[in-house]
Amino acid sequence: MDNSEVELKGASQDAIQYHYDKGNNFYKLWLDENMVYSSALWEEEDTLESAQIRKLDYHIQNAHAQNAKHMLDIGCGWGSLLERLTSHYNAESGVGLTLSQEQVNWVDNLQIPGIDTRLENWQDHQAEKKYDAIISIGAFEHFAKQDLSEADRIEGYRDFFRKCHEWLNDGCYLSLQTIGCGNMTRDQFSEFFATEIFPESDLPRLSEICAASEHLFEITSVRNDRLHYAKTLKQWLKRLRSHKAMVIDTYGLELYKRYEKYFQLAILSFEHFGTMDLYRIGFRRNKEPKVL
Ligand SMILES: C[S@@+](CC[C@H](N)C(=O)[O-])C[C@H]1O[C@@H](n2cnc3c(N)ncnc32)[C@H](O)[C@@H]1O
Repeated sequence: MDNSEVELKGASQDAIQYHYDKGNNFYKLWLDENMVYSSALWEEEDTLESAQIRKLDYHIQNAHAQNAKHMLDIGCGWGSLLERLTSHYNAESGVGLTLSQEQVNWVDNLQIPGIDTRLENWQDHQAEKKYDAIISIGAFEHFAKQDLSEADRIEGYRDFFRKCHEWLNDGCYLSLQTIGCGNMTRDQFSEFFATEIFPESDLPRLSEICAASEHLFEITSVRNDRLHYAKTLKQWLKRLRSHKAMVIDTYGLELYKRYEKYFQLAILSFEHFGTMDLYRIGFRRNKEPKVL
C-alpha cells in the first residue's frame, strides 16, 4: 500500500488546523514564553516557564537523547523541544512534524540550526536516515478518531509504534507524553471537548498503548502526572483571564468563553474526577520484534 492509500485513523489536517491555527498571537497570550502547549512537570519552586523546561528535559533524558545527533519530534508544536535540543544538548539535526501551518511558519522563523519542520502527518513520514531518539509530546491524543472500535484504535496506534520502530536506530528510545482516558468509560468523554475543542480526536487507554507497542518496544517507565496538568491549566486559565478584554476584542466573546470553559472542565477532569490521566512513557526499541 503506498502512502496515498493509508487510511487516516486520527484527526485530519483540517481538524488539527481548526484547533491550532487560531493565530499564533492567541496562543502567545496564555502559553509560557517558549510556547509549550502540553502539561508541564512541576517542582514546588517552579514557574510555568521553568516547569515546562523541566518537562522538556525530562523527555530528553527519558529518550536518552542527551547526546543524540539526529532527532525526530512528532507533533513539534511551536518548536520548544527542538530548540532546547539544539541549544542545550548536542543535537546536530532534527525533524519536527506538525499539521499546523501556523506552527510551521513560527518554527521556520526561529531559524533553529539543523532543524527541518514539516507540515506532514506522521503516517506519511519517510525518514531519510535513522533517528537516534524520538519524542512525541501531546500529539498522540489526535492519533485516533472517536467511534473507532477498540481493535481499530489499537491497530492505528500500532502503526505509529511500527513506524517509530522502523525509523529508530537499534537500541534507541522513544519518549511519549499523552493525555489518557482515566476513570471513565468512553461514552463519558466530554461532548464539548470532542466537538468544540479537539474534533476527530480521542483519548487512548494505557492498556491500548501497551498492547499497541508490545514486542516492538520495551516499556522502560510510566508516570501518571494528572495533577501536573491541572496545575498547568490553572496557569493558562489565569493568563487567559488576565487578557480577557483584549481576547474578546480581537477574537470575540465566543472564543474567550469556549477556552475558559475548556480549561475549567479540563482542570476538573484531571484534578477532581480523575477522568483524564497524563502519561509520560519511556520505550526502548526491541531488536527483533516477534510480532509485526
Ligand atoms: C498539543 S500540541 C503539542 C505541541 C508540542 N509537542 C508541545 O508540547 O508544545 C500537538 C501537536 O501535535 C501535532 N499533530 C497532531 N496530529 C498529528 C499528526 N497526525 N502528525 C503530525 N503532527 C500531528 C499538532 O500539529 C501539534 O503540533
